[in-house]
Amino acid sequence: MSFRLQPAAPARPNRCQLFGPGSRPAIFEKMAGSAADVINLDLEDSVAPDDKPEARKNIIQAIGDIDWGTKHLSVRINGLDTPYWYRDVVDLLEQAGERIDQIMIPKVGCAADVYAVDALVTAIEVAKGRKKRIALEVIIESAAGIAHVEEIAASSPRLQAMSLGAADFAASMGMQTTGIGGTQENYYMVREGQKHWSDPWHWAQAAIVAACRTHGVLPVDGPFGDFSDDEGFLAQARRSATLGMVGKWAIHPKQVALCNEVFTPSEAQVTEAREILAAMEEAKKAGAGATVYKGRLVDIASIKQAEVIVRQFEMIGG
Ligand code: COA
Ligand code: MG
Repeated sequence: MSFRLQPAAPARPNRCQLFGPGSRPAIFEKMAGSAADVINLDLEDSVAPDDKPEARKNIIQAIGDIDWGTKHLSVRINGLDTPYWYRDVVDLLEQAGERIDQIMIPKVGCAADVYAVDALVTAIEVAKGRKKRIALEVIIESAAGIAHVEEIAASSPRLQAMSLGAADFAASMGMQTTGIGGTQENYYMVREGQKHWSDPWHWAQAAIVAACRTHGVLPVDGPFGDFSDDEGFLAQARRSATLGMVGKWAIHPKQVALCNEVFTPSEAQVTEAREILAAMEEAKKAGAGATVYKGRLVDIASIKQAEVIVRQFEMIGG
């Protein structure tokens, strides 16, 4: 660790972000009743251009009318390259009640994109005397976004989370794929005539995790489009969790339980982490910095690894 300490990310569960189009208010109650930690009501790409005004109205009304319980309530606005985004922010923060927690900015390409939204949000909050300080989250889903990921992670004290948006990312990067996340047919290596598939999202995910951890932001994996493929979803989510991401999006309610399963440390993981901490406590008493646990080395770094799992488990309320 450098002399500068790594800041903690917000201490709230973010295992699943459930999305729903703002133009489909019939599902809002179902979203509120789901087991997702975060709700993302969408004004962007799941809403057709002609439906944007109606979707804004639906969302503004639902923010006040529906009992969202303890959920972190976020609204995805339109991108800064559209004529819609300023009206999204102005209408939401002038007309919606205090229950809204967060605004999600899609297709962020540089820190100034976040600065622009922050400036508008700040002005409306003061003008309207809003009490709750609105948080921000961003989607990295373009070549510019990943190239500038570190400055984006550092862009605003309001920023709480950053997601990888696989579909727009693939398009912007010119990748030959139409799938939303997961295994890609042509991304493989060959050894002795056998294909071995690799992970084309790995680099972008690791870059996002590093930028987020440097600046105290929650790193999140975005959508997995094929919601009939549970096995593929679980494999993608497990890779994300292994890399340090704290959660993943659900674009269909059946993906919520899968998210929660993967991003809640299992009993076995927590038991093992606690045993490692106990073994290291014994080692410390004996004046040693390293010891053996189940036939393998554990040392002072193992304490920090184990603490990540125990802290995550306790924060989730297990
Ligand atoms: N949240 C909560 N409930 C949802 C839901 C969602 N996002 N999507 C569907 N449901 C409900 C349906 O209303 C239905 O409820 P019922 O059993 O009471 O009738 C049930 O879940 C099963 O839905 P299903 O018929 O399988 O799906 P669908 O054809 O109605 O909708 C999608 C499928 C993908 C169009 C829809 O899930 C959706 O719009 N997802 C979010 C898309 C989005 O926001 N994208 C932007 C981010 S990438
Ligand atoms: Mg997108």
